[in-house]
This record gives sequence, C-alpha cells and structure tokens, in this order.
Amino acid sequence: QPSCLKERGGLDTSCILVWLKEQGYDVITYLANIGQDEDFQAAQKKAESLGAKKANAVYEDRYLLGTAIARPCIARRQVEIARREGAQFVSHGATGKGNDQIRFELTCYALYPEVKIIAPWRIPEFYNRFKGRKDLMEYAQKHGIPVPVTPRAPWSMDANLMHISYESGILENPKSHAPADLYLMTKNPEDSPSTPDVLEIEFKNGVPMKVINEKEGKTKQTPLEIFSYLNEIGGKHGVGRIDIVENRFIGMKSRGIYETPGGTVLLEAHLDIETFTMDKEVRRIKQGLGIKFSELIYNGFWYSPECDFVRHCIAKSQENVEGKVQLSVFKGQVYILGRESPKSLYNEELVSMDVQGDYDPCDASGFIRINAVRLREHNRLQGFSDTK
Ligand code: ARG
Ligand code: SIN
Repeated sequence: QPSCLKERGGLDTSCILVWLKEQGYDVITYLANIGQDEDFQAAQKKAESLGAKKANAVYEDRYLLGTAIARPCIARRQVEIARREGAQFVSHGATGKGNDQIRFELTCYALYPEVKIIAPWRIPEFYNRFKGRKDLMEYAQKHGIPVPVTPRAPWSMDANLMHISYESGILENPKSHAPADLYLMTKNPEDSPSTPDVLEIEFKNGVPMKVINEKEGKTKQTPLEIFSYLNEIGGKHGVGRIDIVENRFIGMKSRGIYETPGGTVLLEAHLDIETFTMDKEVRRIKQGLGIKFSELIYNGFWYSPECDFVRHCIAKSQENVEGKVQLSVFKGQVYILGRESPKSLYNEELVSMDVQGDYDPCDASGFIRINAVRLREHNRLQGFSDTK
C-alpha cells in the first residue's frame, strides 16, 4: 500500500487526510510546531538553525517573510519523517495559486529528490468535489472529522512565532479595510499605552543576544525568550502592522495583512547597529544581497546553491556587527535613542565640528572639484552654462 506523509492543519487538511485514505494511501500525519501555539521549543530550534535574524531580509520593501521562512522548516522535517517512515509520497494543503506550494515542494525535491508529491488542490478529482467550505463541512460531518466549533474568520490566516498573516476572503478586495478585530498579535496604536517601553538590545555577529528592560527589571537571553518578549512589547504598543499588495512568485498580485511585532523591533535595532559598525561599501553590497536573499526566501529557494552562497556572504558581513542599541517602543513605532559598540567605526573626533582630528579640511576642496568634473561636462552638453 502506498504510504504518504501529510502536513496537518485545519478543516481542508483534515478532509485531505480522509480523502487520501479513500484513494488507498496509508497516511501519516505531521503537525509542525513553528511557534503558532504555546510550545515554542521546536520553533526556537528551527529559528536558530535557519539563522534568520541578521539579514534585514524584507520582500518588496515591506514584508518580513514570516510565512516564507517557515515553509522550508516545515518541509524539511516532513521529509525527514517521510524518509524515516519509508513514505514515497508527501502531501500538503496549499492551493494551486499561491507561493506555499512552491516553497513546500522545492524543499521536498531538494532534500528528497525521489519523493512524489500529492497536492490535492491541484487534482481535478479533489477540487471538483470540494468546491467550497460547505462541501468540506459536509464531507467532514459524514466522515466523523471534527469540524471547528469556533466560527471561522472570513479570511485565511497563517501564524507562527514570527508573525500572523491574513489574506483571501473579504480581504481580496484591496480597497476594503481590515476590521479592527482581525489583528491578534498587536494592539491598535490608538489604544496602546501612553507611556513607552524602553529597551536595550545587545547584538553579537548580527544576532540579538540579550534584551533588557531596565524599568521592569527584565532580561531575556535565549533566542526564543528574546523573540517572545519582543512580540509581547511590540504587540502591546501596536508595532509591525502592514497592509500590502505583493507580487506572488506565480505571477499574480495578492493583498495581505501582516503583523510582525518582535521582528519589526529587531529589524530597526539591527539596522542601527549594523550601520554603526559596518564599512560603508560592505554595507552597500550587503544591502543588495539582502534584497536577493528576500527574493530567494519568498520564492522558496532556501535550499539552493545561490541561497547557500548568499547566507555565507551575509554571515561574513555580520562579523563585527555587535553592540547595544537603546530604543523606545511607543504608539506603533520604534524610536532609536542611542547605541554603543566595541566595534564601532564611528570616530567622534573625526566627525566633530569642534575638533580638527586626523583630517585636513583643505583636502575637501580638491575632492569636491574632482567630483564636479563630470557634472561640468554634463552641463556643457546640456548647455546649462550658456549665459545667453
Ligand atoms: N502571502 C504570504 C506569503 O506568500 C502569506 C501566505 C500564507 N498566508 C495565509 N494567510 N494563508 O508568504
Ligand atoms: C495558499 O495558496 O495556500 C496560501 C497563499 C500562498 O501560498 O501564497
């Protein structure tokens, strides 16, 4: 009997499970803990092993990739179990229009090349039978699948330690505003506290090592503790909400709403300490790599040679990214207050308006005139310098 390992989820995937059994498969289910519930331990290990928090990877300038980064984690473990159990097939409940099918399957093919994939939402016998939620509910009732008792939100959600994303349903109209009760991780900044939380975040090799909230006498040390605490503080002050239209890999635009409270605080702090400690030209190259990295993650190419290469370069760029950033979190914003670092490239004497330092101001005249050579030539051609 063919056996198949399926990642487990809600109503859709429960029905898929039973449907696969009907098709004659022996089904092994797998539920990934990526921090979507109280037990964050698996998420911690995976977040650590993926080293996701030092690249400033932001897709299309806004999306912090909370869903995209989780997919290779889920699929890697799924494939491990499939191998262990001797399953020739793996399955998932992603639709045929989205990014997730690509992310899951590219990871599966990369790590288990012989594997065969069953994606029911791309199989006509399946999607013609289950045209909507009503069909799924009926099927579930008939087959004794417990159906969710809580009324379902009229949109699709994806949650993990890093973020919650919302799309589809009533959000498909890009003009319609999200209802206030959609957001589960963050408070509306209009209702958030009227006093800020002041934090100090310490980095080493670009990775957050410690968060201190002096006023509350709190120190957080492990990656999991740090992320959870920043989610709490960011959430309390309404940090990290975005509502965007993004470009899916598959070619269509989709509207999504995201809340990434802790990730947003970390991004701001990391950007600050990075600029403080990193050479200007290295930073420029690394910024370009960050854009590339975000596209690779978004498009599902975590396990690719190019992503491996980019991760190495980014890790190299972070060698001196260390120090402490003080910031305040308040009314949906992160305000940087100050920074310090043993690896700082900032030279107070060099930049001072009051001290000369190791610098001759006369050199600047030549520097500026040489830079103007090109501009003069440009003007000559345009005729801007003609006085008539
Ligand atoms: N558009 C986001 C991405 O591609 C989220 C996809 C899953 N989210 C969901 N609510 N079903 O990463
Ligand atoms: C899905 O298609 O299952 C969710 C959306 C996406 O993957 O882009």
